[in-house]
Amino acid sequence: MTQIVTVQTQPFDGQAPGTSGLRKKVKVFQQANYAENFIQSVFDSVTRDPGATLVIGGDGRFHNRTVIQQVIRMAAANGYGRVLVGRGGILSTPAASHVIRKYTASGGLVLSASHNPGGPDEDFGIKYNIANGGPAPEGVTTAIHARTLEIDRWLTVEADDIDLDRIGDVEVAGMTVSVIDPVADYADLMEELFDFAAIRKAVADGFTMRFDAMSAVTGPYAVEILENRLGFAKGTVVNGTPLEDFGGHHPDPNLIHAKELHDLMMGEDAPDLGAASDGDGDRNLIIGRGRFITPSDSLAMLAANIEIAPAYKGRLAGIARSMPTSAAADRVAEALGVPCFETPTGWKFFGNLLDAGKVTICGEESAGTGSDHVREKDGLWAVLLWLNILAARQIPVDQLAREHWARFGRNYYARHDYEGIAKDGADALMAEIKDSLGVLKGHAFGPLTVKLADSFSYSDPVDGSVSENQGIRVLFEDGSRIVFRLSGTGTQGATLRVYLERYEPADGRLDEETGAMLADQIVAAEAIAGIVEHTGRTAPDVIT
Ligand code: G1P
Ligand code: ZN
Repeated sequence: MTQIVTVQTQPFDGQAPGTSGLRKKVKVFQQANYAENFIQSVFDSVTRDPGATLVIGGDGRFHNRTVIQQVIRMAAANGYGRVLVGRGGILSTPAASHVIRKYTASGGLVLSASHNPGGPDEDFGIKYNIANGGPAPEGVTTAIHARTLEIDRWLTVEADDIDLDRIGDVEVAGMTVSVIDPVADYADLMEELFDFAAIRKAVADGFTMRFDAMSAVTGPYAVEILENRLGFAKGTVVNGTPLEDFGGHHPDPNLIHAKELHDLMMGEDAPDLGAASDGDGDRNLIIGRGRFITPSDSLAMLAANIEIAPAYKGRLAGIARSMPTSAAADRVAEALGVPCFETPTGWKFFGNLLDAGKVTICGEESAGTGSDHVREKDGLWAVLLWLNILAARQIPVDQLAREHWARFGRNYYARHDYEGIAKDGADALMAEIKDSLGVLKGHAFGPLTVKLADSFSYSDPVDGSVSENQGIRVLFEDGSRIVFRLSGTGTQGATLRVYLERYEPADGRLDEETGAMLADQIVAAEAIAGIVEHTGRTAPDVIT
């Protein structure tokens, strides 16, 4: 008989899952009962059959192994029949999604704080994914949060830590734990989706790339797929070994944290493609020789060309983008005669649309792109789709971008982040814009006249659930737009995100500098929100 140990506990404040699960400093997770309370709240809230399978994996950051051992013991005590865990505790977020689906698990716990830094003084996170492989929808996260507020005990078994580095099955208090190869299933899936032969041929003909794994989870995946299976030269993948502190860097694939890659791509010795992924492997950065592709544009360009890839031929059903993502994808959807859905920020809102077959590809301005192959955004998938398209069309990234804009027009786009600002000021800023929504309409800010201003609310076309207060949209007569929202993933103070966009039609100014093109929108954003006054900042901390 399995001896279940019941440990008394008390609720902690602030265990409401945010945009991507529960994300806090490692020190917070290290408190007695903290991680256990949250994990038990998940196990108490989610439905599953007796003897169900649970997938566990993480991005390899500091504290990953500790929490994995905790989860294994608690899963045994909570009646799971089997746990699948990636060797070394590793599973990229998209690989975890695939493993949940492939082995019909009841769900999975993904341990990551995505692109946030790792280490004893940095960030950690736990996210629950449901049986479709995607992040738990709001109904589930609300139930988990409610449970954290009243939890008074958690369950575990007395068992030693298992050897996470040895592939194979072991038993923990009557439950089977299978340590699996974290890469193989995912790499096989990629090989089914894309024309590897065409990419291999392009490589043999001299196509070159650099992939920066940022010392995070995608290293082993990228080495296996790009170097071993596609034939790119050894050394194409840089920073390919996952480190607990990501080498002290932010594993965030943007122009600030992947500056070295950006500089290489803008220089004389640039390869044909530069790409990077984040801490847990769900984000992507795409840079052609001399040409950075914004994530919003990448979504639009991939959607316009997706049917080149074998698994997508003849089946682009629709496109979805998060509200702050530029409308570049909308232009493609319109031209191709497929629907385009505008959802709140966060991948969980795409799940229902993908499950219902309403969309095939989806994306966010924050470097997330994915499709119906899993239920998470997928960094390497986006890189491989780019590779497949470039191999088939045999044109450089820059030319592809120019041809795209000449057909659909160009959405100049930037995001300004004000990080770690006081929460009071951030809340006041949002509250004041909300109060002024009624009078904004028709108001002119320089050359920009407000056409519509609202607080974005989303009604899910599949299950009818409504999500309110998902950011403020200010749309102007000329098709440009400003969006204000507060981040749901930060671990310190508040982060204000201001999203700026301007549309130039196909016969307009297509080859200008983004900052200059958005000057009027930047002035209008300050006039509407009083950013300097509320945040005490005269400039954003990060522009992406
Ligand atoms: C951020 C991004 C959002 C993404 C999320 C998880 O959330 O903006 O698009 O889904 O990270 O990767 P935010 O901090 O804005 O709430
Ligand atoms: Zn991520």
